[in-house]
Amino acid sequence: MSFFSYSCAKRPHLLSFILRLVMLKSENLLTVIFNSKNKKGRVTMKILKTKDYEQMSRVTANILSAQVIMKPRCVLGLATGSTPIGAYRQLIDWYEKGDIDFSEVTSINLDEYKGLSPENDQSYRYFMNTNLFNHINIKKENTYVPDGLETDADRACSRYNQITADLGGIDLQLLGLGNNGHIGFNEPGAAFEKETHCVDLTQSTINANARFFSSLSEVPKQAYTMGIKTIMQAKKIVVAVSGAGKATGPFFLWREIL
Ligand code: F6R
Repeated sequence: MSFFSYSCAKRPHLLSFILRLVMLKSENLLTVIFNSKNKKGRVTMKILKTKDYEQMSRVTANILSAQVIMKPRCVLGLATGSTPIGAYRQLIDWYEKGDIDFSEVTSINLDEYKGLSPENDQSYRYFMNTNLFNHINIKKENTYVPDGLETDADRACSRYNQITADLGGIDLQLLGLGNNGHIGFNEPGAAFEKETHCVDLTQSTINANARFFSSLSEVPKQAYTMGIKTIMQAKKIVVAVSGAGKATGPFFLWREIL
Protein backbone atom coordinates (compact mmCIF):
# COMPACT_ATOMS: atom_id res chain seq x y z
CA MET A 1 0.00 0.00 0.00
CA SER A 2 1.49 3.32 -0.93
CA PHE A 3 0.73 6.29 1.27
CA PHE A 4 0.61 10.00 0.50
CA SER A 5 0.11 12.80 2.90
CA TYR A 6 0.04 16.46 2.18
CA SER A 7 -1.61 19.68 3.19
CA CYS A 8 -3.59 21.93 0.97
CA ALA A 9 -5.59 25.12 1.26
CA LYS A 10 -9.22 24.75 2.34
CA ARG A 11 -11.12 25.25 -0.86
CA PRO A 12 -9.04 23.33 -3.38
CA HIS A 13 -8.63 20.15 -1.37
CA LEU A 14 -11.33 18.29 -3.26
CA LEU A 15 -9.59 19.43 -6.39
CA SER A 16 -6.24 18.17 -5.13
CA PHE A 17 -7.86 14.88 -4.31
CA ILE A 18 -9.21 14.52 -7.83
CA LEU A 19 -5.78 15.31 -9.25
CA ARG A 20 -4.16 12.67 -7.07
CA LEU A 21 -6.84 10.21 -8.03
CA VAL A 22 -6.17 10.73 -11.70
CA MET A 23 -2.43 10.41 -11.15
CA LEU A 24 -2.69 7.26 -9.05
CA LYS A 25 -5.16 5.60 -11.41
CA SER A 26 -6.15 3.36 -8.54
CA GLU A 27 -9.24 1.20 -8.43
CA ASN A 28 -9.39 1.33 -4.64
CA LEU A 29 -8.51 4.50 -2.88
CA LEU A 30 -9.30 6.16 0.41
CA THR A 31 -8.90 9.81 1.20
CA VAL A 32 -9.19 11.17 4.71
CA ILE A 33 -9.62 14.92 5.02
CA PHE A 34 -9.11 16.46 8.46
CA ASN A 35 -11.07 19.66 8.30
CA SER A 36 -9.48 21.27 11.35
CA LYS A 37 -6.70 23.61 10.38
CA ASN A 38 -3.10 22.86 11.26
CA LYS A 39 -0.60 25.48 12.47
CA LYS A 40 -0.25 26.83 8.95
CA GLY A 41 -4.00 27.33 8.68
CA ARG A 42 -4.36 24.44 6.27
CA VAL A 43 -6.47 21.31 6.33
CA THR A 44 -4.68 17.99 6.08
CA MET A 45 -5.47 15.24 3.65
CA LYS A 46 -4.16 11.70 3.60
CA ILE A 47 -4.56 9.45 0.60
CA LEU A 48 -4.30 5.70 1.00
CA LYS A 49 -4.12 3.41 -1.98
CA THR A 50 -5.33 0.00 -0.88
CA LYS A 51 -4.55 -3.26 -2.62
CA ASP A 52 -8.15 -4.31 -3.11
CA TYR A 53 -11.77 -3.63 -2.17
CA GLU A 54 -11.54 -5.79 0.98
CA GLN A 55 -8.63 -3.83 2.35
CA MET A 56 -10.32 -0.52 1.49
CA SER A 57 -13.45 -1.67 3.33
CA ARG A 58 -11.50 -2.74 6.42
CA VAL A 59 -9.61 0.56 6.61
CA THR A 60 -12.85 2.52 6.12
CA ALA A 61 -14.52 0.51 8.88
CA ASN A 62 -11.48 1.07 11.10
CA ILE A 63 -11.76 4.83 10.69
CA LEU A 64 -15.52 4.81 11.36
CA SER A 65 -15.14 2.58 14.42
CA ALA A 66 -12.27 4.70 15.77
CA GLN A 67 -14.61 7.69 15.58
CA VAL A 68 -17.34 5.84 17.49
CA ILE A 69 -14.94 4.50 20.12
CA MET A 70 -13.28 7.89 20.67
CA LYS A 71 -16.61 9.74 20.77
CA PRO A 72 -19.56 7.39 21.37
CA ARG A 73 -22.07 10.25 21.05
CA CYS A 74 -20.87 11.22 17.59
CA VAL A 75 -22.58 12.17 14.34
CA LEU A 76 -21.68 10.01 11.37
CA GLY A 77 -22.48 11.19 7.85
CA LEU A 78 -23.18 8.08 5.79
CA ALA A 79 -23.43 7.15 2.12
CA THR A 80 -25.12 4.44 0.08
CA GLY A 81 -23.90 2.72 -3.10
CA SER A 82 -21.78 -0.36 -3.68
CA THR A 83 -18.59 1.19 -2.27
CA PRO A 84 -19.45 1.34 1.47
CA ILE A 85 -21.17 -2.07 1.64
CA GLY A 86 -17.94 -3.89 2.60
CA ALA A 87 -17.20 -1.37 5.35
CA TYR A 88 -20.74 -1.68 6.70
CA ARG A 89 -20.38 -5.49 6.73
CA GLN A 90 -17.16 -5.15 8.67
CA LEU A 91 -18.81 -2.83 11.21
CA ILE A 92 -21.66 -5.33 11.66
CA ASP A 93 -19.10 -8.08 12.25
CA TRP A 94 -17.29 -6.05 14.91
CA TYR A 95 -20.62 -5.11 16.51
CA GLU A 96 -21.62 -8.80 16.69
CA LYS A 97 -18.29 -9.59 18.34
CA GLY A 98 -18.99 -6.91 20.94
CA ASP A 99 -16.17 -4.64 19.79
CA ILE A 100 -18.26 -1.59 18.94
CA ASP A 101 -21.37 0.03 20.39
CA PHE A 102 -23.60 2.29 18.28
CA SER A 103 -26.21 3.02 20.96
CA GLU A 104 -25.27 6.69 21.28
CA VAL A 105 -24.44 7.33 17.62
CA THR A 106 -26.51 9.57 15.38
CA SER A 107 -26.27 9.20 11.63
CA ILE A 108 -27.26 11.47 8.79
CA ASN A 109 -27.26 10.30 5.20
CA LEU A 110 -26.25 12.20 2.13
CA ASP A 111 -29.21 11.75 -0.13
CA GLU A 112 -32.50 10.16 -1.10
CA TYR A 113 -34.54 9.78 -4.28
CA LYS A 114 -37.50 12.13 -4.42
CA GLY A 115 -40.68 10.07 -4.70
CA LEU A 116 -39.47 6.82 -3.14
CA SER A 117 -40.87 5.57 0.16
CA PRO A 118 -38.66 4.06 2.89
CA GLU A 119 -40.21 0.67 2.05
CA ASN A 120 -39.18 0.86 -1.62
CA ASP A 121 -36.20 -1.46 -1.97
CA GLN A 122 -34.43 1.13 -4.14
CA SER A 123 -34.75 3.91 -1.60
CA TYR A 124 -31.65 4.90 0.29
CA ARG A 125 -33.52 4.57 3.61
CA TYR A 126 -34.21 0.93 2.72
CA PHE A 127 -30.55 0.48 1.73
CA MET A 128 -29.30 1.84 5.06
CA ASN A 129 -31.75 -0.25 7.08
CA THR A 130 -30.89 -3.48 5.31
CA ASN A 131 -27.14 -2.95 4.94
CA LEU A 132 -26.41 -1.49 8.36
CA PHE A 133 -29.04 -0.16 10.76
CA ASN A 134 -31.06 -3.40 11.12
CA HIS A 135 -27.91 -5.26 12.19
CA ILE A 136 -26.43 -2.93 14.81
CA ASN A 137 -27.73 -1.25 17.97
CA ILE A 138 -28.08 2.27 16.56
CA LYS A 139 -31.45 3.77 17.54
CA LYS A 140 -33.53 4.14 14.36
CA GLU A 141 -34.88 7.46 15.61
CA ASN A 142 -31.30 8.72 15.59
CA THR A 143 -30.80 7.90 11.91
CA TYR A 144 -31.68 10.55 9.33
CA VAL A 145 -32.23 10.23 5.59
CA PRO A 146 -33.98 12.95 3.53
CA ASP A 147 -37.72 12.36 3.27
CA GLY A 148 -38.25 11.02 -0.25
CA LEU A 149 -42.01 11.22 0.14
CA GLU A 150 -42.04 14.97 0.84
CA THR A 151 -43.24 16.44 -2.44
CA ASP A 152 -42.53 20.02 -1.38
CA ALA A 153 -38.81 20.26 -2.13
CA ASP A 154 -38.29 23.48 -0.20
CA ARG A 155 -39.86 21.98 2.88
CA ALA A 156 -37.89 18.71 2.57
CA CYS A 157 -34.58 20.54 2.18
CA SER A 158 -35.07 23.17 4.86
CA ARG A 159 -36.16 20.46 7.30
CA TYR A 160 -33.01 18.47 6.53
CA ASN A 161 -30.82 21.54 6.88
CA GLN A 162 -32.43 22.20 10.25
CA ILE A 163 -31.73 18.61 11.36
CA THR A 164 -28.09 18.97 10.29
CA ALA A 165 -27.78 22.26 12.18
CA ASP A 166 -29.49 20.86 15.30
CA LEU A 167 -27.03 17.97 15.36
CA GLY A 168 -24.25 20.52 15.77
CA GLY A 169 -22.13 19.32 12.88
CA ILE A 170 -20.97 16.03 11.41
CA ASP A 171 -17.95 14.45 13.10
CA LEU A 172 -17.09 12.11 10.26
CA GLN A 173 -18.59 12.10 6.78
CA LEU A 174 -18.23 9.03 4.58
CA LEU A 175 -18.45 9.65 0.82
CA GLY A 176 -18.37 7.54 -2.30
CA LEU A 177 -17.55 8.93 -5.72
CA GLY A 178 -19.66 8.49 -8.85
CA ASN A 179 -18.20 7.40 -12.17
CA ASN A 180 -18.57 10.93 -13.48
CA GLY A 181 -17.22 12.39 -10.23
CA HIS A 182 -20.53 13.11 -8.50
CA ILE A 183 -20.61 13.36 -4.71
CA GLY A 184 -23.97 12.62 -3.12
CA PHE A 185 -26.16 13.75 -6.00
CA ASN A 186 -24.01 16.81 -6.61
CA GLU A 187 -23.04 16.48 -10.23
CA PRO A 188 -19.73 17.82 -11.60
CA GLY A 189 -19.77 21.59 -11.69
CA ALA A 190 -22.21 21.90 -8.77
CA ALA A 191 -21.89 25.06 -6.68
CA PHE A 192 -19.82 24.76 -3.51
CA GLU A 193 -22.19 27.06 -1.61
CA LYS A 194 -25.21 24.78 -1.53
CA GLU A 195 -26.75 23.05 1.45
CA THR A 196 -29.41 20.35 1.04
CA HIS A 197 -31.26 20.89 -2.23
CA CYS A 198 -33.35 19.12 -4.84
CA VAL A 199 -31.51 18.09 -8.00
CA ASP A 200 -32.64 17.01 -11.43
CA LEU A 201 -30.57 13.92 -12.12
CA THR A 202 -28.50 13.96 -15.28
CA GLN A 203 -29.27 11.46 -17.99
CA SER A 204 -25.99 9.64 -17.30
CA THR A 205 -26.91 9.16 -13.62
CA ILE A 206 -30.44 8.06 -14.56
CA ASN A 207 -28.97 5.56 -17.03
CA ALA A 208 -26.43 4.31 -14.47
CA ASN A 209 -29.21 3.77 -11.91
CA ALA A 210 -31.50 2.03 -14.38
CA ARG A 211 -29.87 -1.33 -13.60
CA PHE A 212 -31.62 -1.32 -10.21
CA PHE A 213 -35.13 -0.70 -11.60
CA SER A 214 -37.29 -2.84 -13.85
CA SER A 215 -37.49 -0.11 -16.49
CA LEU A 216 -35.85 3.22 -17.29
CA SER A 217 -39.17 5.01 -16.74
CA GLU A 218 -39.23 3.89 -13.09
CA VAL A 219 -35.91 5.53 -12.26
CA PRO A 220 -36.55 8.67 -10.21
CA LYS A 221 -35.63 11.86 -12.04
CA GLN A 222 -35.01 13.98 -8.95
CA ALA A 223 -33.30 13.56 -5.61
CA TYR A 224 -32.64 15.42 -2.40
CA THR A 225 -28.98 15.75 -1.59
CA MET A 226 -26.76 17.45 0.93
CA GLY A 227 -24.83 20.15 -0.85
CA ILE A 228 -21.06 20.44 -1.03
CA LYS A 229 -21.18 23.26 1.53
CA THR A 230 -22.77 20.99 4.16
CA ILE A 231 -20.43 18.13 3.29
CA MET A 232 -17.34 20.30 3.57
CA GLN A 233 -18.39 21.48 7.03
CA ALA A 234 -17.87 17.97 8.44
CA LYS A 235 -14.92 17.78 10.83
CA LYS A 236 -13.44 14.82 8.99
CA ILE A 237 -14.30 13.41 5.59
CA VAL A 238 -13.47 9.96 4.24
CA VAL A 239 -13.82 9.57 0.48
CA ALA A 240 -13.84 5.90 -0.52
CA VAL A 241 -13.33 5.33 -4.22
CA SER A 242 -13.77 1.92 -5.75
CA GLY A 243 -14.08 1.04 -9.42
CA ALA A 244 -11.86 0.93 -12.46
CA GLY A 245 -13.67 3.72 -14.33
CA LYS A 246 -13.22 6.16 -11.46
CA ALA A 247 -9.48 6.51 -11.94
CA THR A 248 -10.09 8.52 -15.07
CA GLY A 249 -13.78 9.53 -14.96
CA PRO A 250 -13.39 12.15 -12.21
CA PHE A 251 -10.96 13.96 -14.49
CA PHE A 252 -14.07 15.54 -15.98
CA LEU A 253 -15.04 16.88 -12.58
CA TRP A 254 -11.57 18.35 -12.18
CA ARG A 255 -11.78 19.93 -15.63
CA GLU A 256 -15.15 21.52 -14.86
CA ILE A 257 -14.08 22.91 -11.49
CA LEU A 258 -11.04 24.51 -13.07
C1 F6R B 1 -24.68 7.52 -2.38
C2 F6R B 1 -24.11 8.60 -3.11
C3 F6R B 1 -23.44 8.45 -4.43
C4 F6R B 1 -22.46 7.29 -4.49
C5 F6R B 1 -21.79 7.21 -5.86
C6 F6R B 1 -20.88 6.01 -5.97
O1 F6R B 1 -25.27 7.96 -1.17
O2 F6R B 1 -24.18 9.65 -2.61
O3 F6R B 1 -22.78 9.64 -4.73
O4 F6R B 1 -21.48 7.46 -3.51
O5 F6R B 1 -22.77 7.12 -6.86
O6 F6R B 1 -21.65 4.86 -6.01
P1 F6R B 1 -20.97 3.43 -5.98
O7 F6R B 1 -20.35 3.28 -4.63
O8 F6R B 1 -22.13 2.48 -6.17
O9 F6R B 1 -19.97 3.38 -7.07
